[in-house]
Amino acid sequence: ARISVLASGGGSNLQALIDHFAGPAANAGVLTFVASERESAGALDRARSARIATGVVDEPNDSDAILSLLDAAKTDVLVLAGYLKLVPAEVVRAFRGRILNVHPALLPSFGGPGMYGMRIHQAVLDHGATLTGVTVHFVDEHFDRGPIIAQWPVPVLPGDDATVLAARVLRTEHRLLPLCVAAVASGAIVLGEDGRVHGHLDI
Ligand code: GRF
Repeated sequence: ARISVLASGGGSNLQALIDHFAGPAANAGVLTFVASERESAGALDRARSARIATGVVDEPNDSDAILSLLDAAKTDVLVLAGYLKLVPAEVVRAFRGRILNVHPALLPSFGGPGMYGMRIHQAVLDHGATLTGVTVHFVDEHFDRGPIIAQWPVPVLPGDDATVLAARVLRTEHRLLPLCVAAVASGAIVLGEDGRVHGHLDI
């Protein structure tokens, strides 16, 4: 399967995907295209270093432009790896069951519009939660609300601040996301017509 990635930031999740599909999961998929709405995004530098084609999404709300970029790359699976924009509904429809997102909390808690980056981890701390985690889910028309593919717990430790907690959660993202992408790319996990996730992650 040909995998495209949208990323807004430094791209450490993208790097985890690059490493995974260059190694153990090479037969499950190949990363073929990386785009960002920010031409200065570190994720694009990582893609270039890995000799992966890159693009810039000039207008994140322009579904035709996004679809033509993804079609040019012959995209089978689309991964949002730290992508901060809402994917237009037409793109979600065109790629139903083939768009994944990683969120650094246990959805439906601590998710939705406005809940991104350090705000998430600060909210977890402010609520006194003792457990947080990572969610990988199929993307629907709303932020962070698609059917969940997998989750993994991350402990909140005494003395944690948002920076320390974010780093601990990020390490788990780097492990969970590639496994979920490989499972969807290989067909081991599918989004059924019933809107439920079928199959499971072998971890
Ligand atoms: C991570 O915190 C991730 O949880 C969120 O956006 C950030 C992306 O980080 N989705 P990176 O660009 O993958 O390093």
